[in-house]
Amino acid sequence: MKKVVAGLLKDLRETIDVYWNVGPEVGQFLNLLTKEFGCKTVLEIGTSNGYSGIWIAEALAKNKGRLFTIESNKKKRFGLATENFDKAKLQKNITQILGHAPEAIPKTPKFFDLILLDATKYEHIDYLKAVIPRTKKGSIIIADNIVSHRQELQDFLTKALSLKNFKCFEYNIGKGLLLMIRINNS
Ligand SMILES: C[S@@+](CC[C@H](N)C(=O)[O-])C[C@H]1O[C@@H](n2cnc3c(N)ncnc32)[C@H](O)[C@@H]1O
Repeated sequence: MKKVVAGLLKDLRETIDVYWNVGPEVGQFLNLLTKEFGCKTVLEIGTSNGYSGIWIAEALAKNKGRLFTIESNKKKRFGLATENFDKAKLQKNITQILGHAPEAIPKTPKFFDLILLDATKYEHIDYLKAVIPRTKKGSIIIADNIVSHRQELQDFLTKALSLKNFKCFEYNIGKGLLLMIRINNS
C-alpha cells in the first residue's frame, strides 16, 4: 500500500466513531476480498467520508477496477469523501454518486463483483432487493452491522438466508458482517 494511502487511513481512524466507518479490521477484510477475488466493479451504499471506499479503491487500483459509491448527505459527508479520495489519489478508480439508495442504483453499471451495504439499517432489505438483479454467479454482497444492529436487521437476515442462489457466511469482525456469495445464475 502506498505511504500516502496508509497515512490517510491512519489519520481517519481518529474519526471512525464520528463518521460511522467500518473500522480497520473490516477495511482490511474488504481490501483483501477485493484483491483476492479480482473484483473490478464494486458498489458501496453509504460512502460517509470515504474510509471504507479508500480500502476498497486501493485494491481496485491494482485490479484496474472502479468503485461506485452512493451517499445521500450532500452537506458534509459527500464532500469530505471527495477530499479524502483526492488525498489518497484514488479518484480515477472511484465514481461518487450523490443520492439516495435504492433510487440512485440505476445510475450504476448492470453487474457488480462486490456490493457493500452500509447505510440506513432498516433500509438494508430494500437495498438487497435492488442489488440482487445486479449480481451474477460469483458476485459477493456484504452487509455491515449484523451483530451491532441484529434486531433492526432481522427482516433483512431472514430474507438473505432464504435466498437459494446465495450462500451466506457470518463474520464476527467489526460490527458483524454477513457475506453472501451468489452460487448460480438462475
Ligand atoms: C455507516 S455510514 C457509512 C460508512 C462508510 N461505509 C465507511 O465505512 O467509511 C452510512 C452512510 O450512509 C449514508 N446513507 C444513509 N442512508 C442512505 C441512503 N439511503 N442512500 C445513500 N446513502 C445513505 C449516511 O448519510 C452515512 O453517511
